[in-house]
Amino acid sequence: MAEFTLPKNSVLIKGKIFKAPEGATNIRRFEVYRWDPESGENPRIDAFELDMDSCGPMVLDAILKIKNEVDSTLTFRRSCREGVCGSCAMTINGKNSLACTKAIDSYSGTVKIYPLPHLQVVKDLVPDLNHFYAQYASIKPWIETQTPAPADSERLQSKEDREKLDGLYDCVLCACCSTSCPSYWWNSERYLGPAILLQAYRWLVDSRDESTGERLDELEDPFKLYRCHTIMNCTDTCPKGLNPAKAIAETKKLLVQRKLG
Ligand code: SF4
Ligand code: SF4
Ligand code: FES
Repeated sequence: MAEFTLPKNSVLIKGKIFKAPEGATNIRRFEVYRWDPESGENPRIDAFELDMDSCGPMVLDAILKIKNEVDSTLTFRRSCREGVCGSCAMTINGKNSLACTKAIDSYSGTVKIYPLPHLQVVKDLVPDLNHFYAQYASIKPWIETQTPAPADSERLQSKEDREKLDGLYDCVLCACCSTSCPSYWWNSERYLGPAILLQAYRWLVDSRDESTGERLDELEDPFKLYRCHTIMNCTDTCPKGLNPAKAIAETKKLLVQRKLG
């Protein structure tokens, strides 16, 4: 049997406990993953007891309160706090979500907060998304045309063609779906994953795009597309209620239709 030794700093240890301020009566406990890979120390779980009477309602509010009032070294991404920038994606009580759209009251007991899974950690709740963005760039997420643009108008779309983009253009590229996909965990070097495949489909069905054939050629690959085994974690996880698994199935259908002529 093969034996191997895990690196010393791979073990998750118990961290500090930050008690609620004296006199607080409405207390919730948050356990938060902490790790600075450059420190040489082990990752740890810090516990924060917060006074809910002076905290906003969403999980992101609790994280901001920790940073502002308890431990300013806590590191995470956020921007819009409206569910539209996609930057506050993290794992909350075992499910990938946007922290700004999740009410603390929708969880009972301790709220456990981890970075998105199966990505390198930059620090604390910040994962390395460079590869994810490179994969996004690889599908050419813009309109490709050969014909000249009309002289006096934009490239127009019928109402029906525009509606084909609903449920696709609304993706905020948060990576919650891709990092919940077992196929992506094991093959992310070559499999594009649900988020990027949903985006690829968005350009395939855009009536103004003139590179459908080339886009399908690029996707017709045993790894880029066909590693999806319809496990559906992606659709179950998407905090925007989108359906990447369906977009992937539709892309496979387009490839079959093309083969049948
Ligand atoms: S349906 Fe496909 S993309 Fe979605 S989680 Fe399953 S394998 Fe991954
Ligand atoms: S499909 Fe949903 S979960 Fe996936 S990146 Fe887009 S918004 Fe996030
Ligand atoms: S802060 Fe923008 S989606 Fe949460």
